[in-house]
Amino acid sequence: MTSFGFGRELVDRAEGAWVYMRDGTRVLDLSGGVGVLNHGHNHPRILAARRRFAEAQRMEVHKAFFSPYLAALSHNVAELLPGDLSISYFPNSGAEANEGAVKMAYKYHGGKRNTILRADISFHGKTLGAGSLTGSAENNFRFPGLPNIVVYPYGDIAALRAAVAAARREDGGCDVYAIMVEPYSASSLRCWSETALRELRELCTAEDIVLIYDEVYTGWGKTGTLFYFMRHEGVTPDILTYSKSLGGGKASISGYTARERLFRDSYDRLSDVILHSTTYYGFGEETATAIEAVNVVVEEDFPGRARDIERVLAPGLERIRQRHPDVVREVAGVGSLHGLLLGGGPKILDLAAKLVPGFSGDRQFRTKLVTLSVIAHLYRQHRIMTYYSPNAENPLMVAPTLMIQKEELEHFLEALDATLAKGLRRLLTSFVREKVAS
Ligand SMILES: Cc1ncc(COP(=O)(O)O)c(C=O)c1O
Repeated sequence: MTSFGFGRELVDRAEGAWVYMRDGTRVLDLSGGVGVLNHGHNHPRILAARRRFAEAQRMEVHKAFFSPYLAALSHNVAELLPGDLSISYFPNSGAEANEGAVKMAYKYHGGKRNTILRADISFHGKTLGAGSLTGSAENNFRFPGLPNIVVYPYGDIAALRAAVAAARREDGGCDVYAIMVEPYSASSLRCWSETALRELRELCTAEDIVLIYDEVYTGWGKTGTLFYFMRHEGVTPDILTYSKSLGGGKASISGYTARERLFRDSYDRLSDVILHSTTYYGFGEETATAIEAVNVVVEEDFPGRARDIERVLAPGLERIRQRHPDVVREVAGVGSLHGLLLGGGPKILDLAAKLVPGFSGDRQFRTKLVTLSVIAHLYRQHRIMTYYSPNAENPLMVAPTLMIQKEELEHFLEALDATLAKGLRRLLTSFVREKVAS
């Protein structure tokens, strides 16, 4: 964080798209809390729901009693999702949601299938299981994890088909119990094509493979539809995982929703009912908060807001790319999730990478330095907070809350333009000078 220039100041409070600092300044938050803040900081309806729950002394924890909060949240999520996605679990992190989904898929096949497929570019969390399914550069040290993971190239249905064919058992049966897919990869700003998703759905149905979509980042309106996959008809997964803005920016709650038949075949018998649970699963105030968070997503039309943001950001960033082609190689994104792939900078930096401890051999060193210097300048000179993805080609991420106003987006675009107009040499020099001084 200190590399960006953040992390040395203390925050007083936050509201909407703004963070107010103790020194009296304020920062425009274009990070969107990395997916958590679709509702913005401290949405009044979220605060009120939590206050109501606390003041009425509602119950947080007791698995012996029926929880109306769990039932209502489950019901509402099922109403919003297509097909027969209707049975939900609510743990507390994206990684737990993905691990719960994978466990259910494995149990569905009664332990008879042993292979799971994940993409080369993927992010599913950092616990041992989810971490072993994560292919991002963030995960450069391999811990032990799930056995029999086969990696396929992101979005490549032909390669995936070949991987499934290669996982035939001697008796001719398919050995793949699940395929992990991010229909839109937030960390690399890539997507599966509609045709490929359709073929994937058909393949999984034909082979009885459990299709798991991870929409932990992209859910709850972020990309212009409730979930990214919902922009296409007929590509519904068997299990959907989500988190982040489900908690309205206040509650640590995630979820996964399965097709009813899948759930019943996996766990719906007395001997199996407690095979999967966690202590804080469905915790009272977290669940009550999530009910209100989902209400706000629907009633304040978050998908529509994301499309409005795209209408400003997509052409705005493209104009900036055209004005600064020496630095901005590419812009990509959807809804309120955008990024700029930066490049340029003197080649000598590649040489410098060999000398900087911890970076030797990092082919992305120059890109990272360029991107960090732009982020740092935006923060220091314009009080605007962005971030960069540590994965894939390290895009500079612009992923604001859905509550952001058009004028605030335009202010950001002007500031980015002014920053790049400084010239890379000056940006890099002042960034490196500041680093050396600190
Ligand atoms: C797509 C995706 N999946 C899973 C996760 C893991 O979520 P958590 O950090 O809550 O475990 C993330 C977190 O950024 C994510 O973006």
